[in-house]
Amino acid sequence: MSVSKLKILITGGAGFIGSNFIHYLLKTYVNYKIVNFDKLTYAGNLENLQDFENDKRYAFVQGDICDIQKVREVVQQYGKFDAIINFAAETHVDRSLTCAGSFIQTDIFGAFVLLEAVKDLQIPRFIQISTDEVYGDIDFPKKSKETDKLHPSSPYSASKAGGDLQVLAYQRTYNLPVIITRSTNNYGPYQYPEKLLPLFITNLLEGKKVPLYDQGTQIRDWIYVEDNCKALDLVLHKGVLGEIYNIGAENKPEITNLEITQRLLRIFQKDSKQIEPVNGLRPGHDQRYAVDSAKIRALGWQPEVDFEQGLQITVDWYKNNKKWWQKIKSGEFKEYYQKHYQSK
Ligand code: NAD
Ligand code: DAU
Repeated sequence: MSVSKLKILITGGAGFIGSNFIHYLLKTYVNYKIVNFDKLTYAGNLENLQDFENDKRYAFVQGDICDIQKVREVVQQYGKFDAIINFAAETHVDRSLTCAGSFIQTDIFGAFVLLEAVKDLQIPRFIQISTDEVYGDIDFPKKSKETDKLHPSSPYSASKAGGDLQVLAYQRTYNLPVIITRSTNNYGPYQYPEKLLPLFITNLLEGKKVPLYDQGTQIRDWIYVEDNCKALDLVLHKGVLGEIYNIGAENKPEITNLEITQRLLRIFQKDSKQIEPVNGLRPGHDQRYAVDSAKIRALGWQPEVDFEQGLQITVDWYKNNKKWWQKIKSGEFKEYYQKHYQSK
């Protein structure tokens, strides 16, 4: 795919990874144009993209990926795109346990609507941002490969798997130019504070306890968000159509939630009394995720930020951007937090 000038439709670009990716692309490629199409759910935040508000290379359109008419209008308004990259999704496992409907709607039906648009409007490249959670949990020392069967555990991961299956069906049936990426847990700036790292960091900054589920023995393969953006850049430009790419840091040694918590407590000079042990809030809790990312590495990618470094950058970002998360934590989040964490 030619790299000098591209026009890209990014869906879900006001969320955590999407906004980091827009920052990354506009800084890296001066001639690219990006249209960010986002519904602005509780997780969407235009403050993440304030730097580009007056940038002619960037436009924002509020809309729902489930709305085919609106998707078509955007393509007609801005002219044919060189690629659509779909970040839009309901993403929080805990929320999917109590209201799966919006997950099924956006993560499956929304993917289907975008595929219809790609087919009818002949978009030359569609990248579906998926997750390692579609493989389900996996015993040590195994790692999930792109060819593995999907075995999702939660309504969230089952919805993402449903989206992936639609993408693969459209590729097989209509020969659509699609690629799927499945990354591990991202962390870094602009992550909504419902997720483990921003929740624990901001709670510690507020002098509150951190709610550690199920003794914290679970393992996730944490990847710094900019490293994921670099992998997605490679997939956009050099990824082979029809392929699936796992994207994982493959941290060695693997890191448990308890170890992350202990590292944070050291950074904030707090002791283990700051941990609030919580059991039963995540039924079906996956124990371990791990992917084999040899395929994306063969394209020339490797992570550049190790966990210790990335964690410090992330802690510093939340320390220096208190207004950003304090506003979130005083809004919809407050009600969610009380309801969710007081339910046990
Ligand atoms: P996020 O929750 O921070 O942001 C999601 C964005 O999608 C928000 O801006 C929201 O407004 C938008 N959105 C939701 N429903 C929409 C709809 N119907 N139409 C248009 N926009 C809609 O999510 P994130 O953490 O940035 O994740 C982005 C993508 O990456 C998701 O597809 C997720 O499944 C995947 N993923 C995330 C991680 C992670 O660790 N965060 C890891 C692997 C994969
Ligand atoms: O693996 C990729 C996935 O990573 C993405 O597809 C999801 O969109 C993203 O939310 C993330 O899912 P997780 O469930 O792994 O992330 P979360 O931050 O919610 O939880 C990480 C681990 O921390 C998990 O084992 C549960 C635990 N946890 C989480 C929260 C919110 C706690 O112990 N306490 C908490 O309060």
